[in-house]
Amino acid sequence: MDSKFLPFVLLFLLLLLSFSIISAAIPVPEAVIFGQHLTSEPTTTNDFPPSTFSEVMKPIQLPNTKACSTLLLQHDFGNSYGSPPASVQYTRPSNCSSTDFTKIVLEWNATCKGRQLSRIIGIWLSGAELFRSYTAQPRARGIVWTVKKDITRYYSLLMSNKTQTLAVYLGNKVDNHTNGVYHVNVSIHYYPPEKKTKTNTKTTTLHVNSDHVFKEWADLIIPISQNLPPLNDALWLKIYYSNDVKTKQFAIPPNVYRVVLEVYVSVDEADQLWPKNFPNDYLSANNLTGYPGNGPFREVVVSLDGKIVGAVWPFTIVSTGAINPFLWRPISGIRAFDLPSYDIEITPLLGSLLNGKLHDIAFSVTNAFNVWLIDANLHVWLDAKSEKTKGMLLNQTISPLHNSVNSNFTGFVGTFVTSVQRSIKSTGWVETSFGKVVTESTQDFNLSNIMVMGHEGGAQTVNQQLSLTTVWIPRCSGQ
Ligand SMILES: *[C@@H]1O[C@H](CO)[C@@H](O)[C@H](O)[C@H]1NC(C)=O
Ligand SMILES: *[C@@H]1O[C@H](CO)[C@@H](O)[C@H](O)[C@H]1NC(C)=O
Ligand SMILES: *[C@@H]1O[C@H](CO)[C@@H](O)[C@H](O)[C@H]1NC(C)=O
Ligand SMILES: *[C@@H]1O[C@H](CO)[C@@H](O)[C@H](O)[C@H]1NC(C)=O
Ligand SMILES: *[C@@H]1O[C@H](CO)[C@@H](O)[C@H](O)[C@H]1NC(C)=O
Ligand SMILES: *[C@@H]1O[C@H](CO)[C@@H](O)[C@H](O)[C@H]1NC(C)=O
Ligand SMILES: *[C@@H]1O[C@H](CO)[C@@H](O)[C@H](O)[C@H]1NC(C)=O
Ligand SMILES: *[C@@H]1O[C@H](CO)[C@@H](O)[C@H](O)[C@H]1NC(C)=O
Ligand SMILES: *[C@@H]1O[C@H](CO)[C@@H](O)[C@H](O)[C@H]1NC(C)=O
Repeated sequence: MDSKFLPFVLLFLLLLLSFSIISAAIPVPEAVIFGQHLTSEPTTTNDFPPSTFSEVMKPIQLPNTKACSTLLLQHDFGNSYGSPPASVQYTRPSNCSSTDFTKIVLEWNATCKGRQLSRIIGIWLSGAELFRSYTAQPRARGIVWTVKKDITRYYSLLMSNKTQTLAVYLGNKVDNHTNGVYHVNVSIHYYPPEKKTKTNTKTTTLHVNSDHVFKEWADLIIPISQNLPPLNDALWLKIYYSNDVKTKQFAIPPNVYRVVLEVYVSVDEADQLWPKNFPNDYLSANNLTGYPGNGPFREVVVSLDGKIVGAVWPFTIVSTGAINPFLWRPISGIRAFDLPSYDIEITPLLGSLLNGKLHDIAFSVTNAFNVWLIDANLHVWLDAKSEKTKGMLLNQTISPLHNSVNSNFTGFVGTFVTSVQRSIKSTGWVETSFGKVVTESTQDFNLSNIMVMGHEGGAQTVNQQLSLTTVWIPRCSGQ
């Protein structure tokens, strides 16, 4: 290796997620265990202003400039479940004082009054998901809430000169019992850059070596979701149970030097709070039916042309209707109003994708009980100075799942210890106009879940720790 060999870690992320819940279990009916709860309040007069609900989140770092803002969509979601998403034509802003922006922020504003369950929300631009969230559960006097999300990473899509479709899905059902209609505004704020300085360029690019910089945002975003139209539903793919596999095809241009798959995940019905799902041996030994099972471990497996390329072990998002809705008002559970997405670095496998052919990307969920809502965006970086790049996978190590479940119970009482590890590591090179780049991508997962059932099954305590490490190391080998 020559002296230009410059390894360094560009992204290191360690998440230690600890999750602990205590709740009533057996013999409470199944619907209360994993379903949602509604709160009951006396109807009030109209004298009170609506309550403001919110999520505690890190503030978005904004430049010190005035945003150019557009209200894109104003819509009332009544009986919207199983209907096409609300949609509008989107064009990039043309009447702003600047045509270049350093930060782009999506703003969700909504009001609701009455009674309603927590509903799932998705927003897509040209089929690429930008935002996923749960609604807040309203009160009789009415509520209002605002969510802001930094969507600058979708820059190439947002600034494309084409007319695109912005689709907003909120699957609401209205009847005499759940009567809340969600009144929603979706806006985008475009922040022009501060006066040009050297630090400015530094924040938008990542240096691989002194001669070349990687652009921070992809040049192209390819949606891996359902086609719109015609569609009487949201754009996510629905994965039912553990043997279900959903596949989409895609092709990339010939001059790509980096690919990242961004995966959005959320869960409905029986798996909504999967870290407290019972192991099946406990259910069968106690003749329990109608309870969510398959134990507390879930893994979203992502495959490319039939081979595993990465995985997602999702963070547990507690919806505003789960466990006890009074816990989530006025402050929601962590990330309930802005569900995280998960990045998988595909670059080491780029070599097999550069042949101009269609390729398959597939999702499945280990141990899934119905139903998982999954889609993805393929972020693609193009080599502007080359018509064709090439690449090769050097090495890939995928550890099989190390999954141990230790059940020790008598009747309804006992302890269950689940411990799972997985590691996926790929190395490959890509030849570009600025040299050969070797990329190493690693995902390390470790989960420990201790579930204790006490009081003749009347109390359940779950203590879960999940750690994820993602490392992406590109190095230029000069040439
Ligand atoms: C730009 O045009 C859009 C659409 O006509 C409008 O909503 C927005 O308020 C305008 N923005 C400015 C800064 O004039
Ligand atoms: C959203 O709601 C907040 C709080 O009610 C308000 O301050 C803000 O102006 C609203 N934004 C839009 C774009 O409607
Ligand atoms: C939505 O926008 C309209 C028009 O600006 C405004 O009157 C209304 O209060 C907004 N609603 C919310 C929930 O922000
Ligand atoms: C859009 O951009 C492409 C590539 O930059 C260009 O070839 C095309 O003419 C543009 N179309 C319009 C309508 O501006
Ligand atoms: C809703 O309430 C109205 C009036 O009380 C009643 O006529 C109707 O049958 C109810 N609908 C349902 C689905 O319960
Ligand atoms: C479960 O059902 C089987 C067969 O119906 C019965 O033999 C067994 O005693 C039951 N076990 C419990 C714990 O109720
Ligand atoms: C491939 O990875 C394994 C395990 O990380 C390592 O032992 C081996 O040396 C690697 N082989 C190459 C050719 O890099
Ligand atoms: C199972 O639980 C019982 C009661 O708590 C305990 O006495 C026993 O040692 C446990 N067995 C194992 C293998 O952990
Ligand atoms: C996995 O996490 C558990 C609990 O935090 C810890 O005890 C264990 O050592 C970890 N295992 C690995 C392989 O990192």
